[in-house]
Amino acid sequence: MTEQVVFLNGEFMPISEAKVSVLDRGFIFGDGVYEVIPAYGGNLFRFSEHIQRLNNSLAGIRLPLSKSENDWLQIITDLIQKNEGLDQSIYLQITRGVAARDHGFPKFGSGPTIFAMSNPLYPQPEKIKETGVVAVTLVDNRWSNCHIKAISLLANILLRQEALEQQAQEAILIKEGHATEGAASNLFIVKDHVIKTPAKSSELLPGITRDLIVELANANNISLEEGEILESELLTADEIWLTSSTKEILPVTKLNDQLVANGRPGQMWSRMMKLYQAYKEGLRK
Ligand code: PDD
Repeated sequence: MTEQVVFLNGEFMPISEAKVSVLDRGFIFGDGVYEVIPAYGGNLFRFSEHIQRLNNSLAGIRLPLSKSENDWLQIITDLIQKNEGLDQSIYLQITRGVAARDHGFPKFGSGPTIFAMSNPLYPQPEKIKETGVVAVTLVDNRWSNCHIKAISLLANILLRQEALEQQAQEAILIKEGHATEGAASNLFIVKDHVIKTPAKSSELLPGITRDLIVELANANNISLEEGEILESELLTADEIWLTSSTKEILPVTKLNDQLVANGRPGQMWSRMMKLYQAYKEGLRK
């Protein structure tokens, strides 16, 4: 097996040769942002949207970077070609670089550290179509800039781990009586044939998968509302879904020991999954 090839600060190299200083502010402070971009059959999924969100995240942490969408396309296309596998997940990370440890932005330093790697992207287990996944609700104790895709993910990690230790796959986060998103996913519910998802705000990451679902619903005359989802609405929902680039659309069939409706993935989920898969397959052509 050939070794995974990564991109670090302008060069491609085997992953074992990619080294970052211990003084990198990503390592010291978690001072950076990231993206996760799927590629199906070598074709990037919603690339412009991902780069737009990356630029918003960079602006959100006041990290200037002079890279155009085309520069990124070149790097990522090369990276995909240098790595094996039909479907890949591209991880892109930019930190504020290497500098003497000081909380304030460095006046003297290396400039940003830019890292990208590609990993195989595996489809979700077939079993999920039958059983769905389990979720638990937990208090959303994250910061107030959740629209920034920051690498400092300590709260998200602790929340996901808490869910795993409660035999659930994901935590649905509750802030002052309403649901925001998952620890690493966006949230949808279905009630009386209407899909609902929280409106975009600084309380949640504007998911690229989320946006595609909104678009697909609109294009197919499926009712969808963007607005507050009360914690109490989760308990009476006909369906609950969690979405992300790597997990696509996961049907939640059990929440906090209570079945969601009849405890099986719902009809609206099947319909949306078909639309989503058709969109994805369209990329391979
Ligand atoms: N996470 N909300 C949070 C907090 C997330 O971390 C993610 C994705 C999403 C979904 O966004 P998208 O549809 O653009 O993937 C929502 C990625 C996959 C991760 O951290 O690995």
